[in-house]
Amino acid sequence: MANSIYEAILAIEKLRPRTVAVLTGAGVSAESGIPTFRGAGGLWEGFRAEDLATPSAFRNDPERVWRWYEWRRDLIRKALPNKAHLALAALTHVTTVHTTLITQNVDALHDRAGSRNIIELHGSLFRTRCVADGAVEAAREPFPQLPPRCSCGSLLRPDVVWFGEALDSEDLDRSAAAVAAADLLLVLGTSGVVHPAAGLVSLFTGSLSVEVNPVASALSPLLDFALQLPAAQAVPLLVHAITRSQR
Ligand code: OAD
Repeated sequence: MANSIYEAILAIEKLRPRTVAVLTGAGVSAESGIPTFRGAGGLWEGFRAEDLATPSAFRNDPERVWRWYEWRRDLIRKALPNKAHLALAALTHVTTVHTTLITQNVDALHDRAGSRNIIELHGSLFRTRCVADGAVEAAREPFPQLPPRCSCGSLLRPDVVWFGEALDSEDLDRSAAAVAAADLLLVLGTSGVVHPAAGLVSLFTGSLSVEVNPVASALSPLLDFALQLPAAQAVPLLVHAITRSQR
């Protein structure tokens, strides 16, 4: 496993990738001011994500779970996509490269940055789902009272995947197919400990895999390059190398 961004850029230029799979995690939004789940600032009122993002936490205290999500939604609304989101959005618009952007993030910042072909593996904080009939609706604005309720009177939950719940099988299949078909894999800002998202990396059989994370992750040993840099610094350089290699 190498760690020089210069070598990674040269390897990308040599490869001239045509099919790119990108897996992103909370670290990509860290420089937009959104705390990661497992880093400093990841706790909310003393609770870990694993204590709040579960069906049982919601059953026991839906208001507390919603207060945490409203806190995150408020932070995210005020935040802006950073240079990593913007560079990835530009990559998804390069016509000679087929890019699939697989994200574990529920902050919708890839969407706000203008990315195409996004798979939101863990859902979105800006949609609700009725617990009774499963109806999904966009929900960008703050709720007047918590927990919010559906017009049918049932509780609304965030349209996100909680610990212990299955991912949408179609999203997972599309993600697996994208990773398996890619000649370049970028793994950006994820601790790589939450499955099945982290397990997607083992499906990669292409030529080059590059991680960006200021610290070593659970996935670093599996990848050709582990660049210990912040995403907003490294991702634009990697994307530039991909686009330059197409000429
Ligand atoms: P984590 O909080 O587990 O990991 C974030 C990673 O980002 C860490 O490895 C950090 O070192 C890295 N990081 C921090 N700052 C960075 C920066 N500026 N640039 C690049 N990387 C940086 O978040 P995820 O791996 O996304 O699930 O967590 C996976 C899932 O667990 C989340 O989707 C969420 C969570 O609980 C659900 O809500 C279902």
